[in-house]
Amino acid sequence: MRRKLVVANRKMNGSLPSNKAFLEGLLAGTHDYQHADYAVCVPHPYLFQAEAILNGSPIAWGGQNMSRFESGAYTGSVSPSMLVEFGCEYVIIGHSERRQRGHDTDHSIGERFEVAIKAGLKPIFCMGETLAEYEEGITDLVTIRQLNAVISEIGVKNLARGVLAYEPVWAIGTGKAASPEHAQNVLSFLRGHIEMLDAEVAKNIKILYGGSVKADNAAKLFSMPDIDGGLVGGASLNTDEFVAICQVAARRLG
Ligand code: PGA
Repeated sequence: MRRKLVVANRKMNGSLPSNKAFLEGLLAGTHDYQHADYAVCVPHPYLFQAEAILNGSPIAWGGQNMSRFESGAYTGSVSPSMLVEFGCEYVIIGHSERRQRGHDTDHSIGERFEVAIKAGLKPIFCMGETLAEYEEGITDLVTIRQLNAVISEIGVKNLARGVLAYEPVWAIGTGKAASPEHAQNVLSFLRGHIEMLDAEVAKNIKILYGGSVKADNAAKLFSMPDIDGGLVGGASLNTDEFVAICQVAARRLG
């Protein structure tokens, strides 16, 4: 059975004192590490702090983006090996907030996936449709296009070295989470597509749901058979709320 995974995407939020309170609160509030894993993705300048506080604990940390290149004249960018140097296990790639601003394309996200796994990072690869695409009824088409772009870059076997996250753009930061049934349908469709290529990868790969996950909707979402946990933005800015979501994930497999 796949373990649940809950990842905080803190986005461009935090400060040294507020991060410290959050990370210490998370360590104090998450006791059940048997059935679920937890990770915190922080802005790059705070990786040092995340490592200092979480090192030696079962809680992992990671970045929210990463360059496709290893070094060179890329002002403002951070390379995969720099994330590794700061103890990162994860890196978010392909988040819609970066796709929308033109930083990422299907192709460049495939390249990022490849360099991340080569560096020993686990990419958390985000996919999802916009509101217009959702209303048009083309969620499956959009997410498959996004998924296939990565598979064609790295091959289906390597997909298992990362984590997938379905994040409908219309659900991100809006307070309007997708219904558990919608999320389950999309995830089961994506897993079914992977299964046609490689049954073992489909069975083992974690697929998260993201988009307005809160303590009060996490139980229903996480009880869906294909939802292996959550990528949590806004609710990770409140320690008690995020800890409550982690506790829900731990309970679901208990
Ligand atoms: P949200 O963000 O939980 O605030 O909707 C999720 C995300 O962007 O990863």
